[in-house]
Amino acid sequence: MQLTQDQLGAAVIAMKAELRNKGVDYKSAFEGFSASIKQEIDEIKALDEQGASLVPELDFAAVVQGNINDEQKALIHKRGCVVVRNTFSRELIDDWNRRIADYVKKNGYYETPDKGLDKYFSSLQKGKPQILSVYWSKPQMEARQHENLALLRKALNRLWHYERDGQQEFDPDRECLYADRLRQREPGDNSLGLKPHIDGGSVERWLDKQGFHQVYRHLLNGNWQDYDPFDAAYRTKTDEIPSPAVCSMFRTYQGWTALTPQGPNDGTLQLIPSSRVVPWMFLRALQEDVPPDDLCGAQAGRALQCVPQWHSLVLEGLVSIPKMNPGDTIWWHPDLVHAVEDAHRGTGYSNVIYIGAAPYCDKNVAYLKKQAEAFRKGESAPDFAAEHYELAYQDRATESDLTDLGKKQMGLQAW
Ligand SMILES: [Fe+2]
Repeated sequence: MQLTQDQLGAAVIAMKAELRNKGVDYKSAFEGFSASIKQEIDEIKALDEQGASLVPELDFAAVVQGNINDEQKALIHKRGCVVVRNTFSRELIDDWNRRIADYVKKNGYYETPDKGLDKYFSSLQKGKPQILSVYWSKPQMEARQHENLALLRKALNRLWHYERDGQQEFDPDRECLYADRLRQREPGDNSLGLKPHIDGGSVERWLDKQGFHQVYRHLLNGNWQDYDPFDAAYRTKTDEIPSPAVCSMFRTYQGWTALTPQGPNDGTLQLIPSSRVVPWMFLRALQEDVPPDDLCGAQAGRALQCVPQWHSLVLEGLVSIPKMNPGDTIWWHPDLVHAVEDAHRGTGYSNVIYIGAAPYCDKNVAYLKKQAEAFRKGESAPDFAAEHYELAYQDRATESDLTDLGKKQMGLQAW
């Protein structure tokens, strides 16, 4: 989708007028949805106050043996997130963490002036980021193509409803590699905090008729009870506005792998652990108290923010994730509001490799072609700001570092 911020107001006015003509009572739909979501947020707050974890937890060994029971599945569907303990061994993680630190240090990443090209998150960051625009270190590639993640993502992908009328929206058993960045956050840092947001498109959700309108079809018909966050139908058909750092792949989950221990107050991830918050925000923007040219502040080519002015009801449900140990992984639905704690008050580095799940589908395969080109040249991954820090880096991963599985996931070898 091509749309600039200047053109947004007129497009929103036109779309809202078109939706009004559908004759759906969005006010009463929203009121019903709000009452329901309030109950859910109250439950989250009560559990959080009791010190209970809101993020369901599984153990890697159990997952790959197929031991996820119906109760666990239902809770993951409801909360939209899951921690998988012991995805990697401590030994392997310590090796990756050390080698990543060496790679960054010996190639002078911190000595290179910030190129200032990453504007996408500029309205979210409260200072200089500690997320590194490093995509191609060998440990990152080893982690992405690791068999454990392949097994785990098969299981997690299967929590989606990916078949419709005999057609697969995506193949849960094959994965596309999505090269993302690193976080190396030092103790005492108070600059990284990211405000509550979602990635993967903002205004498109209301303006893209072929893709997002189909994803949110039940909401647009006023039948908010029928909306299923894990229904994959049309999810791979969405049309995003190209912008640095907008994920243009379809991800079943965003996620990261913990390289160091990190818990609440260590500058870690926060979530609103409900998979219904974004659909609620979708209907929120269609209410009469929102200016006709506005979608609760959503901007073209930026992360979609969850803001006190419009979304205070759900913001009360923002909680920190439980303590993560090296080798644990966390996964969250692409429509889950998340944030990063303002301050790191802990004593050690809180480091992660961002690795989500991007299953095989036409949309993702199309991206792999561009990404493979960037990989060969050592450029920044194509979804991200064109900073290209790693062009001349020593010890960068090359094709010879790919396993057969890695080549398939990179689109360099047929499955
Ligand atoms: Fe994000």
